[in-house]
Amino acid sequence: MRAELARAARLLVERRPFLVLTGAGVSAESGVPTFRGPDGLWRRFRPEELATPEAFRRDPKLVWEWYRWRMELVFRARPNPAHRALAEMERLGLVSCVVTQNVDGLHQAAGQRCVVELHGSIRRARCTSCGHRLAWERPPSELPPRCPRCGGLLRPDVVWFGEPVPEGAWRRALALLEEAGGLLVVGTSGVVMPAGALPALAAAAGKPVIEVNVEESAVTPYATVFLRGRAGEVLPRLLEEARRMLA
Ligand code: OAD
Repeated sequence: MRAELARAARLLVERRPFLVLTGAGVSAESGVPTFRGPDGLWRRFRPEELATPEAFRRDPKLVWEWYRWRMELVFRARPNPAHRALAEMERLGLVSCVVTQNVDGLHQAAGQRCVVELHGSIRRARCTSCGHRLAWERPPSELPPRCPRCGGLLRPDVVWFGEPVPEGAWRRALALLEEAGGLLVVGTSGVVMPAGALPALAAAAGKPVIEVNVEESAVTPYATVFLRGRAGEVLPRLLEEARRMLA
């Protein structure tokens, strides 16, 4: 691990800035459950009953109950050392931006300035009638919540299965990847598209890919360096190693 860590830090310093791609694993140590794996949400819940436009049309209250439960977790959660190390890497110029599949807003809470949210945010809602967007200060009490402008049905401002990711966000992710010297991938299974395509795109463009994960994933075949471990432990060590090289 020591040698791999030094190799990753050298790549980060020499090819800076890196673009970062994150998934649920980066927030696991903040107490926000991941989707796949032994304790993953998709073991206990069926995505097609909760995270699709059809499910929302069928039973908006049920879908909102699930989102309110997750909102309660997210509003209580605090950024962990992984989020903070990435924000510090940005300040040092090692990282340009974080493209995240997470909807929890914890990168921003850690002080990350550049964040591209590919799957939206659970902290916001949007009106299914007039498109008005609002940010929650706390989870809604009345379910399903209604639009303060037009009385229409509000939905979580997140991307569901079968929906495209916001076009602007994806274009931005591709432009950022083009400008970056490499890709640092943290805590994602890499199986959900289009985010899951970024490691292959980086590798095809000859850019180094550093992966941080507790286990191998669909990203690992593209990884130049694989750092096995918890993001909250590995990223602060990677930051320290890179900082030493910068000094
Ligand atoms: P997943 O739950 O699919 O994958 C989480 C990854 O994090 C796995 O590869 C774990 O091994 C890894 N992991 C867990 N704990 C970790 C830790 N402490 N440190 C480092 N790695 C850790 O989550 P995503 O890849 O984010 O989409 O899932 C992608 C999308 O699928 C989500 O955004 C969501 C979901 O369905 C939508 O809802 C549209």
